[in-house]
Amino acid sequence: MSFIYEKILKPVFFLFDPEAMHHFFNFVGRILGKTGFTRWLVRGFCWPVADEVLETDIAGIKLAHPLGVGAGFDKEGRIVKILKEVGFSFVEVGTVTGQMSPGNPRPRLWRLPLDNALVVNYGLVSSGADVCRQRFAEESEEWPIPVGISVAKSNVPNLSGEAGLEDLLMAFQKLQLYANYVTVNVSCPNVGDDCLYCDDSNLYRELLKRINDLHPFKPVFFKLSPELSEDRMLEILRDTEPYPWAKGFVLTNLTHSRDGLISPKKDELKSGGVSGPGLRNKADKALAFMAKNGGYRFEFIGIGGIDSVDDLYRKIRLGASAVQIVTGLIYHGPLWPSQLMRELSAKLKEDGFKNVREAIGVDVIGK
Ligand SMILES: Cc1cc2nc3c(=O)[nH]c(=O)nc-3n(C[C@H](O)[C@H](O)[C@H](O)COP(=O)(O)O)c2cc1C
Repeated sequence: MSFIYEKILKPVFFLFDPEAMHHFFNFVGRILGKTGFTRWLVRGFCWPVADEVLETDIAGIKLAHPLGVGAGFDKEGRIVKILKEVGFSFVEVGTVTGQMSPGNPRPRLWRLPLDNALVVNYGLVSSGADVCRQRFAEESEEWPIPVGISVAKSNVPNLSGEAGLEDLLMAFQKLQLYANYVTVNVSCPNVGDDCLYCDDSNLYRELLKRINDLHPFKPVFFKLSPELSEDRMLEILRDTEPYPWAKGFVLTNLTHSRDGLISPKKDELKSGGVSGPGLRNKADKALAFMAKNGGYRFEFIGIGGIDSVDDLYRKIRLGASAVQIVTGLIYHGPLWPSQLMRELSAKLKEDGFKNVREAIGVDVIGK
């Protein structure tokens, strides 16, 4: 069936504007998630996996298996119900910003099919924390799987310094109640002021202090860029360590680099971050380094360039307690998540692991 998606449906979908298709899939997902019957149909079609070998947890949150949806696919928590039936064990909703933020001018999403990649320049489109809070208050009780909520500073002009920080904290404070965990997105590569909290040690420390003042009551993760130096990653680990609510890191966000891409279009697209396999090596390197140096204290969610079960399994062995995909879902279709989980289960058994937890970090920290 994945063959039908890749050879027949995807070429048709790819005739249309990528952002329009993103909205279309969210719309269809919302419709299909509405009734028990449509959810049952999708479940029957996608055949989600239930296998004890895959059961795991992250920051104390139980997961049926380690595969979730990365931030950016379901920006406002509208399709959580159907993503469960498609076979995901958790969803990271967002990124939601404090104020409403229209994002960057269109076009701002492109496909690079030769690379199974996307170039993303959304620039944090969000209805804002108030609208999302109201929606989450109405809908979150019905979310059937754990949901992380990703928050960031709004990408609107003249929102820097203290005002920018306040904006992010407002989103954090208003939304954490509805999340199983909160991810603070400190690494969006497409914001107007290029102000990345993960790049600047003073800003990052101030952010930690101010989140601490809010007395977080949910596990908090920080999503980092794949472009950080080893020294900077060590500094981030050291600065984050004293805060007990800080449970780990999501590695990684999109990359600015076009290295290794073969699509002719790559050089025309000057702005935007690249997803997909071109990002994989950088994301894996950052994950391995952070897990090796911070695995005694933190947990990690691995994301970036997963295009096969080998990519996914590698991230677990490099230290990821859970993994996420975005671009792979678009390129391989809705049957792919369950296929990945079946293949992962077979690989774990082949390597003698009784449970996926035993495989976490074996290649870097010798667990
Ligand atoms: C269309 C799109 C929108 C995204 N939006 C966000 C976002 O709002 N917040 C965020 O933290 N990451 C966002 N990302 C980055 C992804 O969560 C992920 O880190 C990146 O795409 C690498 O994973 P992948 O190779 O599986 O796509 C977005 C990615 C894509 C493709």
